[in-house]
Amino acid sequence: MSQPNYVIDQMISAKSIAARIEELCFEIQREFANTEKLVVVGLLRGSFVFIADLVRELDLNVEVDFLEASSYGDTMESSREVRILKDLRGGIEGQDVLVVEDIVDTGFTMKHVLGLLRARKPRKLRSIALLDKPSRREVDVKADWTGFEIPDEFVVGYGIDYAQRDRNLPFIGKVRFVEGDA
Ligand code: IMP
Ligand code: MG
Repeated sequence: MSQPNYVIDQMISAKSIAARIEELCFEIQREFANTEKLVVVGLLRGSFVFIADLVRELDLNVEVDFLEASSYGDTMESSREVRILKDLRGGIEGQDVLVVEDIVDTGFTMKHVLGLLRARKPRKLRSIALLDKPSRREVDVKADWTGFEIPDEFVVGYGIDYAQRDRNLPFIGKVRFVEGDA
């Protein structure tokens, strides 16, 4: 079987991610200190590892729900057209909601999802992204919390894929293409 012609260079270690999540959870707990229940909404599929680590570190009463929005397909380019492939199971009117995204890149996905959820009248709506590539932004949006700002590199691991591969890496790595077989 032929291997893809790229190698992965570690960019953010599993240890750094865990340490950053502890810091973020401290801030999120402060923001939602008076919340009876926080609905944590993971954007599938890239956020599944992040959300799993995040909720286990959060000392709050949480409910977990998922939403799937289309973006890249199996390419490296954003489609700029966001479609909802799978909606939330539960309603969020009057609730406290935290949207969890893997990466904010052009910003189209986050902007679209926040607009969609805001229209459902949550009491409080906040967002967190593990990674942010500010230099790639095409629409004005920023998560309330960001794990790490990164340069314009294509990354994989910790839930994030390239054509569905490499989601299971425990760290964030950048994709580097090489001549011939890797
Ligand atoms: P945006 O709508 O352009 O902000 O794209 C956000 C989505 O694109 C993220 O949720 C990721 O699924 C995907 N994406 C953006 N950058 C990368 C990357 O470097 N590797 C893998 N997926 C990415
Ligand atoms: Mg995504």
